[in-house]
Amino acid sequence: MKKVTTIDLCRMKVNGEKIVMVTAYDAATASIVDTAGVDAVLVGDSLGNVIQGRANTLGVTMDEMVYHTQIVSRGVKRAFLTADMPFMSYQGSIEDALRNAGRFLKESGAQAVKLEVNEQSLDTIYAIRKAGIPVMAHIGLCPQSIHAMGGYRVQGRMEGESARLLKLAKEIEERGAFSLVLESIPRKLAREITDSLRIPTIGIGAGTDCDGQVLVINDLLGISEEPLPKFVKKYAELRKTIHKAVSDYADEVKAGTFPAPDQSYD
Ligand code: KIV
Repeated sequence: MKKVTTIDLCRMKVNGEKIVMVTAYDAATASIVDTAGVDAVLVGDSLGNVIQGRANTLGVTMDEMVYHTQIVSRGVKRAFLTADMPFMSYQGSIEDALRNAGRFLKESGAQAVKLEVNEQSLDTIYAIRKAGIPVMAHIGLCPQSIHAMGGYRVQGRMEGESARLLKLAKEIEERGAFSLVLESIPRKLAREITDSLRIPTIGIGAGTDCDGQVLVINDLLGISEEPLPKFVKKYAELRKTIHKAVSDYADEVKAGTFPAPDQSYD
């Protein structure tokens, strides 16, 4: 099966075809989303919240991200696979960034890396790109800067801030990123950024005018605990479904009705 490439994703923007991206953290989920027709899979450092039960993404390590990307890559046959660079794996120096970005391609089967970007990391994008590693940048609400931002808040509402994000987006494209995630910014600003770039934008809480959309798989499936951000739409209620299945199983074991003859050997 032919893998989706950076060129395919850029061509989708030119053709006006929306890009569908979701996160995945394990092989089983990856193989389901891959066959459900998504174009791109992200092994997000959101695994800190949704898999590890942490309050934020700051504690996620390179080794954990490489491990989860390895197991996701076994389930992904078609979709484009991107790995998130965790906090402090690229902010310290360009050498760190290159070494860690390289690990994802050498050890885990990722086709690209994602970085939460500000004006200080533009040279890092350029250096990783020059090493032949495609870079997906991420601006707006950047969860790795949670303490600097003072909480999970919509970004770019003030005039100065929206102008800053538009300028930053253009610089990111100039430095060679192949796509840009826009998180929690007003629709109008996301549209302006999308219209002013050749590379595709992928929105999460950024309205419908982005070139694609991404959601965290546990949010989309209704596994995550409430409250969820306003931008999440639940396409299933798996938390309730799993809860009911496991409590039915527990009741039957307690009652001695499982296993029945059908599940037993003579
Ligand atoms: O970590 C993550 O899952 C992300 C997406 C929400 C874009 O960065």
